[in-house]
Amino acid sequence: MPNWLNDAVFYEIYPQSFYDTNGDGIGDIEGIIEKLDYVKDLGCNAIWLNPIFDSPFMDAGYDVRDYKKVAPRYGTNEDLVRLFEIAHAKGIKILLDLVPGHTSDQHPWFLEAKKAEKNEFSDRYIFTKSVWDAPPEYRMICGICERDGNYMTNFFSRQPALNFGFHEITHPEWQLSTDDPACQATAEAMKDVMRFWMDKGADGFRVDMADSLVKNDDEKIATARIWRGIREMMDKEYPECALVAEWCHPERAINNSGFHMDFYLDHEGNGYSRLFRYGNFGDKSIFHPNGQGNLKAFTDEYLPNYYLTQENGYICFMTDNHDIPRVTAYHDTQTIKLINAFIFTMPGVPFLYYGDEIGMRYLKGLVSKEGAYSRTGSRTPMQWCAGKNLGFSTSDNPYLPVDSSDDAPTVENQKDDPNSIYRVVTDLIALRHQYADLHGNGELEFMTVSDHLAFAYRRGSLVMYFNPTAAYFETETRFNGDVIYQIGQAEISNGKIQMQPQSFLLLQT
Ligand code: NOJ
Repeated sequence: MPNWLNDAVFYEIYPQSFYDTNGDGIGDIEGIIEKLDYVKDLGCNAIWLNPIFDSPFMDAGYDVRDYKKVAPRYGTNEDLVRLFEIAHAKGIKILLDLVPGHTSDQHPWFLEAKKAEKNEFSDRYIFTKSVWDAPPEYRMICGICERDGNYMTNFFSRQPALNFGFHEITHPEWQLSTDDPACQATAEAMKDVMRFWMDKGADGFRVDMADSLVKNDDEKIATARIWRGIREMMDKEYPECALVAEWCHPERAINNSGFHMDFYLDHEGNGYSRLFRYGNFGDKSIFHPNGQGNLKAFTDEYLPNYYLTQENGYICFMTDNHDIPRVTAYHDTQTIKLINAFIFTMPGVPFLYYGDEIGMRYLKGLVSKEGAYSRTGSRTPMQWCAGKNLGFSTSDNPYLPVDSSDDAPTVENQKDDPNSIYRVVTDLIALRHQYADLHGNGELEFMTVSDHLAFAYRRGSLVMYFNPTAAYFETETRFNGDVIYQIGQAEISNGKIQMQPQSFLLLQT
């Protein structure tokens, strides 16, 4: 287990929207290099970079055409290596985004696979034996290849599924088993891609749809076996590199598959949704002033996962990501500050999505860009300062519009404002680094304070109290000590804690 993860705070960068240095209207690697000090000043010591590989961008780069080549619009492979080097010199690690489950339909492997004559790549993807065979339980694209067969997709239509085999074989005429040499070759090809970038200085990967490799694998037994093989390779050859899964099933991802981390996120109805996004525009979430959330539903889901996996890896809370509406779509500024207090004081490894530190808005109603659809509004350009395109680009035609509202938050107008989200985020990240009790593997004791939905948890000598609701709250407390941070109005004296609406208190006992 790489030690650095215990005190890691990640910043997710969506490269096309971060900072454009050559005026073509789209972010680039040079832009990320120029903003590394900004990232460092936030307190982040690691970056998750969304896909930067050559792609037709039908799904924002999650449709990879060449795993070993940086998309020219972002720069060159040399630029990426330079980013690794400069970031490392500043103490920042970089995780790339690995998309192992599918490629673009323009990937050379696929161009070969769809040919009629058999070749080395014929079984790299999943094809039926004839175009007349399209079992409805699979998502198939039919009748568009020279080859007589339909192919299975993994996400959008132009993202054919790579073939890691089938765990349960229901159609033996075209489904291969996971130990078929063709399926083994797919897994080897993915390892080869990983080695290619880790040899050049990448610190690991965020893994897209990590659970999607083997088909008909409901319990994910065969998929986990592949990942364990990859973890073995990493332990042996790249012990300081890390893997975070987009799986959202910590036991499977961390314990069974060997991921160092798993995101705790977005399946409606699970614990994560209950925190910030439950109900209609979050009105039933725990962090909502109306107090209608259900804390127990969250802890019943999260805590068993936490206890099961805490010896083996980290569960990652994130402010947002590029796939979901920013929390600004649901919550007021005070609630967002409390959400940040939660994310940066919980165990595991926290992730901050670019722009969330200044409360960037989710821009509704934008026409879809690069396969983003409703996600477009969470992917708009970073807002740096007043002026043209809010400092993102000098282009007259940025690839996506910036927030045009008069009061659009920017780094410039947030940074020195003591009441800003920026201030809360940077304060909390600094505290997280300062107090080992707040690090990834520090202990956690969750305490429901009342039915009123004020709650608290203890991490070592620190206790966090939250009153996310619009009602005043007071209670006896067995703890006393010094308040080292607070949001809103709250105080503790003579064994009693008094919390005004929407407040947070961090106590050192
Ligand atoms: C999850 C990624 O986060 C999302 O942006 C992408 O569209 C799908 N996987 C498909 O790769």
